[in-house]
Amino acid sequence: MPEDLIQQARDVLANAHVPYSEYRVGAALRASDGTVFVGCNIENANYSNSLHAEEVAIAEAVKNGYTEFDRLAVSSGVRDGVTPCGMCRQTLAEFCDEDLVVVCDEGDEETTEYVLGELLPNTISLGTLEAAKEQQE
Ligand code: THU
Ligand code: ZN
Repeated sequence: MPEDLIQQARDVLANAHVPYSEYRVGAALRASDGTVFVGCNIENANYSNSLHAEEVAIAEAVKNGYTEFDRLAVSSGVRDGVTPCGMCRQTLAEFCDEDLVVVCDEGDEETTEYVLGELLPNTISLGTLEAAKEQQE
């Protein structure tokens, strides 16, 4: 059995809407109280406003009042160890610390673990903008 969070990312793959890429992605984001929010990619005929699995999961969480997270699992239909893209890393960084664990599905029981800080070092954050404002005063 794969870890629970990976299994939840795998389960939501079935709902991915991917008529264009045919590349299914599922994400399961765990809040600090253990509540899990899942998302899948939802593509669009205009191509450019397709939603990514991680975006859908974090939107569901924030919409429900959850803003603190400790673990994210990501899986693709082909279990190729897909990691969140650059845009999703930045979206995660809005709410998650550098120590958010990102577990990527390599198939069977295999996973690769990262922390958000290594996937997205030196990110722009609220702190960056606050420091800039102070400098201008
Ligand atoms: N995709 C995600 O859902 N998450 C990522 O961060 C990587 C890319 C989706 C978007 C698109 O539907 C498909 O994978 C191919 O890029
Ligand atoms: Zn993405």
